[in-house]
Amino acid sequence: MAAAGGATGREGWSSKTAFVLAAIGSAVGLGNLWRFPAEAGENGGGAFVLFYIFCVLLIGLPVLLSETLIGRHGQSSPTLSARKLAVESGASPYWEAVAGIGVLAAFLIVSFYCVVGGWVLYYVWQFIADLMNSGVSGGAFKGVEIDTIRAFFPDLLGNAGLMVGLNLVFLAVTGFFVIRGVSGGIEVMAVWLMPVFFVLLVAITIYGAFGGAFGEAMDFLFTFEPEKLTGEVMLAAVGQAFFSLSLGVAGMVTYGSYVGRDVNLAGTSTIIAAADTSVALISGVCIFPIVFAAGLAVDGGPGLMFQTIPVAFQSIPGGTIVGLLFFLMVTVAALTSSVALLEVPTAWAMEKFKASRRTCALSVIIAAGILGTLAALSFNTLADFHPLGFIPLFEGQGMFDVLDGVTAKLFMPIGAILVCILVGWIADARLVDSENGLDGALHIFWRFLVRWACPIVLAAILFVGLTS
Ligand code: TRP
Repeated sequence: MAAAGGATGREGWSSKTAFVLAAIGSAVGLGNLWRFPAEAGENGGGAFVLFYIFCVLLIGLPVLLSETLIGRHGQSSPTLSARKLAVESGASPYWEAVAGIGVLAAFLIVSFYCVVGGWVLYYVWQFIADLMNSGVSGGAFKGVEIDTIRAFFPDLLGNAGLMVGLNLVFLAVTGFFVIRGVSGGIEVMAVWLMPVFFVLLVAITIYGAFGGAFGEAMDFLFTFEPEKLTGEVMLAAVGQAFFSLSLGVAGMVTYGSYVGRDVNLAGTSTIIAAADTSVALISGVCIFPIVFAAGLAVDGGPGLMFQTIPVAFQSIPGGTIVGLLFFLMVTVAALTSSVALLEVPTAWAMEKFKASRRTCALSVIIAAGILGTLAALSFNTLADFHPLGFIPLFEGQGMFDVLDGVTAKLFMPIGAILVCILVGWIADARLVDSENGLDGALHIFWRFLVRWACPIVLAAILFVGLTS
């Protein structure tokens, strides 16, 4: 998708649409389908969901614009872009650390992201096996008890060898695309399959609206109960907003750096945020009616998507084949994100060490494989290993939860605060204004958000979340 172009002669998106689709491909992933419903369930539903929407609009969107702006201005790797903006504004080159933190975060995320990618592969396999056993007619898993379908998940978690193997397979596929360069097959696949995926998701949602406990689910997701909005819930919501929009980890800085000068960044940021948030909300509206109808616990955590969706396919005509398609597309959605994630540390290493793409990608893959193996084992063999047990927020959590929590609850908010300070305070206002595509009242509002509201609200949430 990245065609040669632009006045700089550097690689760039072939069109504005290409950029928007690629950015949506990076944003829409397991964060929307798997993490959002799980977090919403664990954090009490409505209060979390509504605060999440608030975060997307008033914090995520301004930060998304700021990140793409740093990238487009710099037209180079995230660290160099941040450095360039700072130096041109007469500030210290060390501002590149803003992006440096992001690179580290992207590495940590991809390590556990591939573990979840492996789970998706496992379900693809379950549907293939079902197809071979009982063919296409009727629903999936004919005659199998719901409890047995639900037990696929705990069975998988308990199987150390399978967990590690699937994680490494998913990581290897991700690595394959990164070594070949992102632009080839994967983007094309994403552009064609993501719309199909969207239609399928909506179809299953409509099915759920009729067949599941729709009213109960809507109450749970959208009734605001102020007393449920604790510091921890707020921190979880901000973290989820950043995770889902791929913010705070230099991902959007990278994508912004391939954008031409003619693109209005404010407009594209809005489209990206709107698309990403719709998919998250739809997946919540898809999953929770099934959760309630099947009498599952809302705070089922990581297993929520995996234990509900396959149950729905049992009563859908042609459920085996539709279910297989569904999980294949979740695989594609996850891959477009994991490739984008792995690309961040790879691109950084290539520039830092002046080494080849292959060498850098392989080194990152090996390191991520080791960390991911520890994460995969934290559900079984290493269940009692709590790497950050001495910090209350991470008490009793294994490697997987720690990687997930540290990145979403620490790295992303801190990275975003630094991005706001860089763009709002350090950078020369003229440079920023010429990039952001805003004018009039909206421009003033955006500057207010980036200079004051976002950093202060983020710092407050971080403080309350960490101390409560
Ligand atoms: N947004 C992705 C998802 O929802 C995950 C993600 C977080 C990501 N940070 C990223 C993807 C940076 C690409 C780049 O699944």
